[in-house]
Amino acid sequence: MRFFLIGYPLGHSMSPFLHGLFLDQIGQRGTYELKELIPETFNDQIRALKQSGYSGFNITIPYKVDIMPFLDVIDPQAKAIGAVNTVVIKDGCWTGYNTDGAGYVQSLKYHYPQLFRPSSRFLVLGAGGASRGIVHALNNETCAAITISNRTVEKAATIINALPPKKDYQAISFSEAEATLDQYDAIINTTSLGMEPNVDTQAIHLNRLKQGAVVSDIVYKPFVTALIREAMSKGADVHHGHEMLVYQAALAFELWTGYNVDARPVIEAFETKLKL
Ligand code: ATR
Repeated sequence: MRFFLIGYPLGHSMSPFLHGLFLDQIGQRGTYELKELIPETFNDQIRALKQSGYSGFNITIPYKVDIMPFLDVIDPQAKAIGAVNTVVIKDGCWTGYNTDGAGYVQSLKYHYPQLFRPSSRFLVLGAGGASRGIVHALNNETCAAITISNRTVEKAATIINALPPKKDYQAISFSEAEATLDQYDAIINTTSLGMEPNVDTQAIHLNRLKQGAVVSDIVYKPFVTALIREAMSKGADVHHGHEMLVYQAALAFELWTGYNVDARPVIEAFETKLKL
């Protein structure tokens, strides 16, 4: 089984480590290569890969949208999200999926299954690519409402307008989110605020946090972001987004191989590697 990752720049990707552990779990040998594709020759390089003997690949920044014209089939959820992070290759046919949002939701559900109930209200901070994946995945789950809050409110409204209408949706500003915070059972940060080196920034403050609410941050460098620190100081339950990377990888691996794998031991190994 041969897999690879495309992106630019790739830096110190954790994906070969994660997929190596999944291969061990199913007792198979395989490879997971890093292919840093320079933007100038992206199209030619992708066409060349179409002739190769791989079983599948992952796509990271900045190619999650650019890969779409090269696919033979796109899963409806990935099409709705407008980005692909996983391609399955079978008999030369390339099928694109997006496992980022579903991976995030699996992690949140593992730690806080009680959040997924008919009355739950989710507040998602940010309206970029990560937000789109998470919002679409949440929309498939049991909950009452999904609100997106963003610096640029129109971007939040654009995501909401593209959702299959199943729930109560809203697009609001950060100040509206702060003022109405006690309505939400989970607050999920998908913005880059708080990420190194801007560790003292956060999208909103949590003065009106509801008792029992969960605060989650997909930023995991630093592991305890300013938002998570404020949540902890209020005694709130918190969720760290580093697990999203492992769960999205597990879902990709399952699509490629047809095997079910256990993300939990891989998360433990990942945390040891991150020295958490
Ligand atoms: P990703 O793919 O990681 O989601 P992105 O698509 O660039 O990255 O989205 C970044 C998100 O962080 C957006 O919601 C962005 O807000 P805008 O849509 O208003 O640009 C948010 N963000 C980034 N820097 C920000 C800042 N300094 N203040 C407020 N929001 C910020």
